[in-house]
Amino acid sequence: MSKTVNELIEYIRTHRCFKHPIFKNWAAVNPAPEVVSALFHQIQCFCASTRPGWNFPEALAAHGLARQSQLLEEIVESESGHGPELARMAGYIVNRRAQRVVCPDLEDQAAVEDQLRKDSDRILGTLPGYDFQTGLMRQTRMAIEVFERRKATDRDTTIQNLGTALALEMISNGQLIPGEKHCLIDSGLYNVRMSDPEMHYLLEHFGEIGAEQQHEKNAVAAVAAVLDDQTEPLIMEGIDDFLAALVSLWDLLDAALLASGYREDGARRAHAVTAA
Ligand SMILES: [Fe+2]
Ligand SMILES: [Fe+2]
Repeated sequence: MSKTVNELIEYIRTHRCFKHPIFKNWAAVNPAPEVVSALFHQIQCFCASTRPGWNFPEALAAHGLARQSQLLEEIVESESGHGPELARMAGYIVNRRAQRVVCPDLEDQAAVEDQLRKDSDRILGTLPGYDFQTGLMRQTRMAIEVFERRKATDRDTTIQNLGTALALEMISNGQLIPGEKHCLIDSGLYNVRMSDPEMHYLLEHFGEIGAEQQHEKNAVAAVAAVLDDQTEPLIMEGIDDFLAALVSLWDLLDAALLASGYREDGARRAHAVTAA
């Protein structure tokens, strides 16, 4: 007998990734502006990779999973416009933390993302495996690669991708978005509110009426309708590959930027020593 969808949900909820303290540590450490910027760069690149459906909805339909295809298509459609909104929020927070205008035009997504990228290169560039072509760490690239599988159309990968979608939407709804709300708003560090127009990204994603709640429902329904003895190992693989990749990204960002006790003063001193 295969696992039930509730058992899969429980499996994801009790995974270390789901309870990762990265956002709590963010709130506790009050990272320097350039660290906030570097964090947003890595998070932004990961989030961007999860939005496109590529061939996934079509592949589901081609394998006779019309209902799943529709549910996934709804998720993909609801992601449109989220890139510029995430950039706007990131630039706004960086400006607040810096108490000066680091990102002058929050509507200019490319310019904001470029600033985040520069800080990431500067702060994280010395880590092994950091790629200056993309501004990504190995762990970020691995998390992104899981979503590149949506370009494949074979049945096994398509079923795996359903597992990944379930884990992604549960993490988004249960860890990432509430985590961002905790460190960006509830912490009081940036003196911003959910109702600020620049924070619309969070407003749109968070809570009962947020996009992620609906995405999670869709993903649960899609997996529930296809779960059986044959599909379960593939679905589990998709879940595990995603959770393993994301937890190592969270671990690295947390260790390098937050839990390690990185402090602005320390960084300034380090820069001064290198510059001397
Ligand atoms: Fe989104
Ligand atoms: Fe989502």
